[in-house]
Amino acid sequence: MSAEHGFQPKIIGIICNWCCYGGADLCGVSRFQYPPHIRLIRVMCSARVDMFHVLRAFSNGQDGVFIGGCHLCDCHYVTNGNFTAFSMVQVFRKILKLIGIYPERLRIEWVSAGEGIRFANFMNEYSEELLKLGPVGKSEGMDGKTLALKLEAVKKLIPYIKLVLTQRLHVPVMTEEAYHEFFSSREFDRLFDELIADKLAISLITSLLREKSLSTGEIADSLGLSPSEVARHMIGSSRQGLVRYDVNSKCYNLA
Ligand code: FES
Repeated sequence: MSAEHGFQPKIIGIICNWCCYGGADLCGVSRFQYPPHIRLIRVMCSARVDMFHVLRAFSNGQDGVFIGGCHLCDCHYVTNGNFTAFSMVQVFRKILKLIGIYPERLRIEWVSAGEGIRFANFMNEYSEELLKLGPVGKSEGMDGKTLALKLEAVKKLIPYIKLVLTQRLHVPVMTEEAYHEFFSSREFDRLFDELIADKLAISLITSLLREKSLSTGEIADSLGLSPSEVARHMIGSSRQGLVRYDVNSKCYNLA
């Protein structure tokens, strides 16, 4: 992981109108400096940031996506939307890791309207971090086509992932401690693996097979999985009638 010569990260910041945007505004008025290559989009609440927005940003070559909201429990809406945004980010960062993209590329922070310096500090720190990470995809050893294929496989699963988020990854107590505790717990890891990781792997495999027939080893190499993991997914997918094995070529095809 190293900065490319002359590389300047493309960063998009999606920030809530009531707090973080106020902080960004105060930052400007107070003349606190932060890098000019960060583009800000104002939304009414951080909960408005959808997984599709994040995915689209990365698909369009953004090297980082920053989400800024009011401090937890200070959201201006009765639904406490920043808890929703927080949950989405925890799940999405795991998805990024699973598809081989540095999860640090997606970040969420809380900034009040009176915290201009805090906003500037986050922007400077985040920009530095992305500078070290380098360009999205390329730094992770992926060409543009592989990156697009992986993001497309995630996109297909988003409606399902949203359902999992609301139905199975719901934290009953809306406090900062409860959310941090749950999303750093083994239970969350277990539920993620059980409900999302396997489905995502299958979505990635079927996306690859849409291009051409592949052997277990080729699929494993393309996705950074072990051959035994791929074999496990292929057995399940064959049973479901998604793929079939050609004994002559020793390759899998889409059914
Ligand atoms: Fe700021 Fe909801 S209004 S996070």
